[in-house]
Amino acid sequence: DRCAIELVFETTDEMQRYRKSRVGLLDDQIVCTLFFEPSMRTRLSFESAAKRLGASIVGFSDPVTTRINLNESLADMIRMASAYANIIVMRHWLDGAAQLAADIADVPVINAGDGTLHHPTQALIDFYTIRQEFGCVSNRKIAVVGGLQNSRAAASFCLGLTHFENVQLWLINPDKHDMRPDVVHLLQKNGVTVVEGEKLENIVSNLDVLYVVRLQKERFSDITEYEKAKEICGVTNYHLQKAAPKMIVMHCLPRTEELPIHIDDTSNARYFAQAANGVPIRMALLKLLTTHGMHTLNYINKSTHGKISAKQFFPMQKPSWSCTNKNCAVHAEEEAIRYLPQNVSEINFKCRYCDQPMKQHGVAHHDYC
Ligand code: NCD
Repeated sequence: DRCAIELVFETTDEMQRYRKSRVGLLDDQIVCTLFFEPSMRTRLSFESAAKRLGASIVGFSDPVTTRINLNESLADMIRMASAYANIIVMRHWLDGAAQLAADIADVPVINAGDGTLHHPTQALIDFYTIRQEFGCVSNRKIAVVGGLQNSRAAASFCLGLTHFENVQLWLINPDKHDMRPDVVHLLQKNGVTVVEGEKLENIVSNLDVLYVVRLQKERFSDITEYEKAKEICGVTNYHLQKAAPKMIVMHCLPRTEELPIHIDDTSNARYFAQAANGVPIRMALLKLLTTHGMHTLNYINKSTHGKISAKQFFPMQKPSWSCTNKNCAVHAEEEAIRYLPQNVSEINFKCRYCDQPMKQHGVAHHDYC
C-alpha cells in the first residue's frame, strides 16, 4: 500500500549514503538470485545492493546451470533456495511464477519480473525517480509510450500509479499493442484518469513525465508495421522542443530505436539516473524484507495476494478449474493447481497466479465448498 511505498522511499533515502560504500547491515544474510531469464540492470543492481549491505549472494544468471534439464519443478527449486538463503530474488518467464514461489518459500520472495505480468521493483525505482524530480508522484501528468501489451515494466508502473492521487495518464502504443484491459480497468477503478489513442505530439506539452517503453520489434510480423510503430512511439527532438523544460524522459532500459542516443544529451533525459536508483531502492527492499517483517514483494497493485493460508484457499485435489492464460505458471507447475480457485463466493473467478479468468469444468467436491 501507499504507506509501504513511502517506507521504501524513506529507507532508500537512508541507503543513499552507502550507495558507493559498504555497510554491515545484512552481514548475516544470504540473498539468493534466481534468474531464469536474462537481465542486466535488475540482477546486477540487486547483487550490488546486497554486497553494499554486506550480504552474501548465491544463485544463477542462467538456468542451464541448474537441473532444469531434468524438468525439476520450480516448486522444488524454491524449496531448496529457501533452505539455503534468507531471501529470494527471482525472474521467470511464466506469468505468476513469483506468486507460486511466494506460496512455496518460507523466506520472502522478491519478484524481479514474471512473464509479461509484473516488475514491481522497477516500478518503485520509477516512482522514486519521479519523486526525486517533482517531490511526489501524485498530481503528475504522465504518458507511457511504446509496446505496452507485453511490457511487465509498463504494467507494474501503471498499476502502481493507483496508489497516488490525481494522476493523469496517456497510454500511447502502436495498433494491437495496447495495455492489458485488466490494467486499464484497475486504473480507472482507482481514480486514475486514463486517455488512450492520442498522438504524442498533441499532448507532449502537458507532460511532467514521458515514460518510453521498448517497442519489442520481435513481436511485429511485418517490418512496415514496425516502421509505423516507430513513427507513433519514437521520441524525437521535435517532441522535446514542444515539451516543458522540466519534463523528464524515462525508460526502464534496454532501449532500442524508440529512444535514439542523441536524446541522452538533452536536459530531459533521466533514464540513466533512473537505472542508477536501482541500487538504493533494492538496498532498501532487501533491508526491509529481511529485517523489518515486511513480506513478499510480488505486486504493487491494490489486490495484493498474501501467503497461502489453509483458511483462505481451497486445495483442489481434482482440478476442475483451468486458467485461460496459456503462459500461466499453473499449466507448467503441478503444485500450483492445488490452490485454485481463490474465492468461491464470487461469480467470476480469477487465477491466483496471473489474475486471468478461470474456467470451471465441473463441480468441486463439497469438502472444498
Ligand atoms: C527489463 C529487461 O531487461 O528486460 N528491464 C529492466 O528490468 N530494467 C525489462 C523487463 O523486464 O520487462
